[in-house]
Formats: sequence, structure tokens, C-alpha cells
Amino acid sequence: MKQISLGNTPALGWNSWNTFTWDISEKLIMETADALVANGYLEAGYEYLVIDDCWSLKERDEQGNLVPDPKKFPHGMKAVADYVHSKGLKFGMYSCAGTHTCAGHPGSFEHEFQDAKQFAEWGVDYLKYDYCFKPRYMNGELLYKRMSLALKNCGRDILFSACNWGEDNVHDWIRESGCHSYRSTVDIQDNWDSIRNIALSQIDKKAFTGNYCHNDMDMLVVGMYGGSNSDWIGNKIGGCTDEQYKSHFSLWAMMGSPLMIGCDIRNANQVTKDILQNKDLIAINQDPEARGAYRIKVEPNWFNEKDAFVLVKALENGDLAIGLFNFSDNTRELTVQFWDMGIPAASGAALSMYDCWEHKELGVFKERFAAHVPSGDCVVLRAKLVI
Ligand code: GLA
Repeated sequence: MKQISLGNTPALGWNSWNTFTWDISEKLIMETADALVANGYLEAGYEYLVIDDCWSLKERDEQGNLVPDPKKFPHGMKAVADYVHSKGLKFGMYSCAGTHTCAGHPGSFEHEFQDAKQFAEWGVDYLKYDYCFKPRYMNGELLYKRMSLALKNCGRDILFSACNWGEDNVHDWIRESGCHSYRSTVDIQDNWDSIRNIALSQIDKKAFTGNYCHNDMDMLVVGMYGGSNSDWIGNKIGGCTDEQYKSHFSLWAMMGSPLMIGCDIRNANQVTKDILQNKDLIAINQDPEARGAYRIKVEPNWFNEKDAFVLVKALENGDLAIGLFNFSDNTRELTVQFWDMGIPAASGAALSMYDCWEHKELGVFKERFAAHVPSGDCVVLRAKLVI
């Protein structure tokens, strides 16, 4: 029997949109493939290299096929896919459930089976599928079912990444459509407000993520520092602080989102690499059981739960991932009571704590754990039960 593993855990990779938008080319993709391998990203788990919108001409050819823009991709998509594969990476592309993509290129509406076959022929391993220009009378749910069926029957394993921005109560129907992940929010921007808003909007949706259908909170802005072709995504004035990028990565990792890098990894600094390649956080994100993270309130209990909270994720081996987050403007001392994670004091159980950012053992704690967390920063622990 065929082993079903595609989409078991959230996808890890790189996507062209956040930094480069329309300004993509064969050269950029090949250089990024090189950097994914040479700079340790592939080894850390980032295997998908995904070209987003703006790769095709504005018209299909006479047979109705999508045509790669010859100025950007002079050797066609098969050549790009071959290069990406030669590096040990997987290749991703982008299309749309509507008549056009969000940037106005042809979408796959009424061409689903033809396009899926074309993607398979080019050697595509991942398809991001957007929601712009959906004919008003069409049911969006049906369009994702169509493309899912087309991909599952195109002769190649293609990971299906839905992108309808959380519209039409997507979490209610996306799992049965066959998609491996679904975008649940509006597009991310490289600023702290955007990161906070996305995280807070998904905290209560923890039941709607898991193996084979992960809640995609959008591509990462870690390491962009405001640098994007789009002034709406970046702002050219520095983006976020490193602490905020670290919290962003921790939230996405703990909440089970795919981790798709959005910065220019050809020129990333050491801090960016250390964040994106944090193997302890990646292990939490890639835990085989892919459980959602639940929120517990921190002490003191007068803190607004949107300002300071703890996320807990149960891991396959019995450990707990515990994240202490401070969204407020001041340093806070945050206390987690073990009772709130299912550990009564009378059990005598303690937790042996490992700090996933400092990469060190902190010792064994009973009943509670407290830490000073600066504004915008976080502490992520991997806790082992000691009974
Ligand atoms: C939408 C998506 C983005 C990106 C753009 C491309 O806005 O949500 O992630 O793919 O389209 O045009």
C-alpha cells in the first residue's frame, strides 16, 4: 500500500511573494535554490521553493495552456524545476481558483484539469491556489474540491496549499476538500501589528489545524527589515525588531502554520538565519501529531489575555511545548501555573525545562514557572514531565 505522508506536517520552504512580488526570474529562483542549500536551510528542513504570482504571460496560448513569461523564464518552467530538483529541493508554483490571479494573470477557473496536468509535466511538487476573480455565482468550496481532485489525479504528488484568506468560513469545509493547508487570514505585512493581529485571530481556531490540513497563517516576514518590492508588505523603514521576528517565528511554529520564508535568503544576516534555522522550534512545528496549541492565562491575572499569554502544545513523545508571549509595551514577569496544563501539585510531578531560544537546560520546576519577558519578545520551552 502507498504510504500517505504528503502534508502530514506543515510545509517548510521559501516563497517569492513577500520580498519580490512581480520581480521574479529564473536567475532569482536558481540563486535562491543555491542559497537554500549552501546556507543550511534545506538541511534545517526547508524543502519547497515556491514561485508565487506573476510568472506567466497575461494570455493563455491557442491550446489554452498557461505560458511562462519568456522574459522572466527564458528556458521555461521544466528547466527551472529540473534545476530546483537537482539541488535536492522541491518545486512549487502558484495559480488561482478564479478567472485571474490577484495580479491579473490567467487563473485556473474552468482549466483545472488541464493546468494540473501541465504542472505535473513541468515537475511541480506544490501548488498555492489563490481566490481572486472568483466568478460571483461560483461556490468557492467547489473550486477547491475541483483543483484538489485534479491534482490528486495528475500523476504526480503535488502538495495543495489553499489561499482564500479565511473567507467563507473556510475552516468548516477545507479539510474534506483535500487541501493540505489553508490560508486563514488577510495578507501579512512586515510590521508587528500585522503579526499580532494574525496570531490573535487564529488562537481560538486551534481545533482547525492538524495532519494533512494545516492552518496557514501566511508567509514569514522574518528577516525582511521592511525590504519588499511592495510598499504595502514592507515599509522600507525597518520592519520589525529581531525580538519581534523571534516571537513571530515562535507563534507560527507553535500554532502549526507552514513555515514559508519570505525574505531574501541570498543576503540574510546571522540573526535571521539563527531564527529561521532554530531546530528546536522547527521540531515543535514538525511534531508528527501536529496538534494545535491552546492558550492559558498567565499570572498575574489582571493582564489582558491579548497582551500576555501562554501557548501550550502537546507533543508526540509526551513533552509539552510552552511559549510565553508578551504583546504589551512593557517588560512583564509572566507566570505559568502547571495546574493549567493538567499537572496537579498533589501528583508530585515536576517539569524539566529546556529553553529553545537560549538552547540550554533550565532545571526542574514544580507547580509554576516564571520569566521576565521584554516587550515583543517571548520564551519558548520544551518541558519534560518528571514523575
Ligand atoms: C494574494 C495572496 C498573496 C499573494 C498575492 C499574489 O494577495 O494572498 O499571498 O499570493 O495574492 O498576487
